[in-house]
Amino acid sequence: MTGDHYFTAEPTTAAQPREVEFSVAGRDYTLASAAGVFSAARLDPGTAVLLRKAELPAADTTGPLLDVGCGFGPITCVLATSAPSATVWAVDVNERARDLTAANAARLGAADRVRAVAPDEVPAEVRFAQIWSNPPIRIGKDELHELLLRWLPRLAPDGVAWLVVAKHLGGDSLHRWLVEQGWQVERHASQKGYRVLRVTR
Ligand SMILES: C[S@@+](CC[C@H](N)C(=O)[O-])C[C@H]1O[C@@H](n2cnc3c(N)ncnc32)[C@H](O)[C@@H]1O
Repeated sequence: MTGDHYFTAEPTTAAQPREVEFSVAGRDYTLASAAGVFSAARLDPGTAVLLRKAELPAADTTGPLLDVGCGFGPITCVLATSAPSATVWAVDVNERARDLTAANAARLGAADRVRAVAPDEVPAEVRFAQIWSNPPIRIGKDELHELLLRWLPRLAPDGVAWLVVAKHLGGDSLHRWLVEQGWQVERHASQKGYRVLRVTR
């Protein structure tokens, strides 16, 4: 046993490389994954609902796009594939997750457009056309709010954020909190106990 969580900065668990396969919008993906990252063995069901129900970026979108908490990179890879000219910033506190996302982007031929970096490495002036996240609920409510207050204000004026949160992990209270913070929030979809929220200014 180690004390690693999926949001540990530098997992000490042996990597145990593996592959995760899934399909989104008629495209098949095979991504590298490893122990010590979130949902290492399969596409997380919440992420699956998000990628199935939210509106993927149009092919001519140049972004930049942001994936908050990229894990091994499933959302980032789908965004980079759907919008082949877009720059995608993928942030995670977990170094192994960032390395996997960068490797998976390279495998898709998108290494030059995907920036898998620690949160502090995103230049302050970048504003995002879209922000996507299956956010890390388990870091705690205050930390989650802090995370969202850090990134949502960096949406471009006409930008849109897509979030997925399980209802039993507080999807509806997060919806209410975002509205209290002044965001326009629409419950875009609800499936298998997950809420897909569309957030705009
Ligand atoms: C629910 S997982 C989603 C991972 C991936 N997007 C997916 O769909 O499989 C949330 C991710 O957020 C990361 N995380 C935790 N705290 C964070 C923070 N403060 N900033 C950025 N990422 C964070 C975790 O390491 C984890 O990879």
